[in-house]
Amino acid sequence: MIKQQIKKVVLAYSGGLDTSVIIRWLKETYGCEVIAYCADLGQGEELSPLTEKAEKTGASKVYITDLKETFASDYIFPMLRANTVYEGTYLLGTAIARPLIAKRQMEIAKIEGADAVSHGATGKGNDQVRFELAYLSIDPNIKIIAPWRDWTFKSRSDLIAYAKEYKIPVEATADKPYSIDRNLLHVSYEGGILENPWTAPLEPMFATTASPENAPSEPSTLEIEYEAGNPIAIDGKAYSPATLIEELNRMGGIHGIGRVDLVENRYIGMKSRGVYETPGGTILHTAHRAVESLTLDREVLHLRDSLISQYASIIYNGYWFSPERKLLQTLMDEAQKGVTGTARLKLYKGNIIVTGRKAPHSLYRPEIATFEKDTVYVQKEAEGFIRLNALRLKLQALGNSN
Ligand code: ARG
Repeated sequence: MIKQQIKKVVLAYSGGLDTSVIIRWLKETYGCEVIAYCADLGQGEELSPLTEKAEKTGASKVYITDLKETFASDYIFPMLRANTVYEGTYLLGTAIARPLIAKRQMEIAKIEGADAVSHGATGKGNDQVRFELAYLSIDPNIKIIAPWRDWTFKSRSDLIAYAKEYKIPVEATADKPYSIDRNLLHVSYEGGILENPWTAPLEPMFATTASPENAPSEPSTLEIEYEAGNPIAIDGKAYSPATLIEELNRMGGIHGIGRVDLVENRYIGMKSRGVYETPGGTILHTAHRAVESLTLDREVLHLRDSLISQYASIIYNGYWFSPERKLLQTLMDEAQKGVTGTARLKLYKGNIIVTGRKAPHSLYRPEIATFEKDTVYVQKEAEGFIRLNALRLKLQALGNSN
């Protein structure tokens, strides 16, 4: 490796073993100043002790930034407005967090006059791509250090040995059996026993949801109100974007909502097995579709649906700040202007059951849809509609019989 000249680096720091070792390793390897930065995205941990911890490890300055509301309103909500799902099941909880972490990191680099940024993602995953595409789309000249791709450590025990040697404070916690990434939207688990895609996860792994078997046998009913595609209230009570997700995580967690177990395709080419808990996000996904069912024009709905998998790949692969993502977002948001209304849902043992939907400007017209006698719809007209639509099918049949 040819060593770059680095003066000052801003590191995306979590307080865990890897990024603690990285602080020291950066100083040893580059002789540079290291600024630690930790974003609060709702990972459910007390972050204030990290300042002292990072300083003790060798950081010259520490930034801890609460980004929960920005995360919810400018990242999660736009993604949910588009009903985004990757490969039919993954609600992108980690993928959507990376661009925001990187953006704030680059702002700090600018404030601090740092010439480099660094992260603790390994060389095998999506996260390195997401971080670095975001860095470079913000500043094409920024230097990037990804220690996992450069250093000689191979395992967790190598890192622990290094931490001991340099007296880096790391908690003597038992080796976590999974790689966990948690934020406001989800918890993800990879690695350990999950590496065998036939092995079922063990129940104690799950941090935010009850198992459907152990969920209450009494369902909970709730109403979620939407305005222009965004959820704004639960049971008539207004919430900020982040607190709304927190509240739905709580309710969904009780009822065992939003667990998925899948094998996904990473951008770099390998398949990987992941287990996710996304209680609030899963509820919002279902509620949003219920409101859309009344308010979206059929062709707009179908066209939008045809773009979901592309939109999901754009986010999954790390192109949040790309022109194509912005273009699609404009289209998605235009379609959402009329998505105002309320969905009623029942949560019951891992299931979300839609029991009603209403909208002030609903496109659903009971007087037209009714099975009873109506005065507005002329049934006779359907005959011509069918006959003309059948024309090419009839020609096909005639051609076949020649
Ligand atoms: N496989 C998921 C994704 O690529 C989750 C990644 C979780 N990251 C982690 N460092 N544990 O979005």
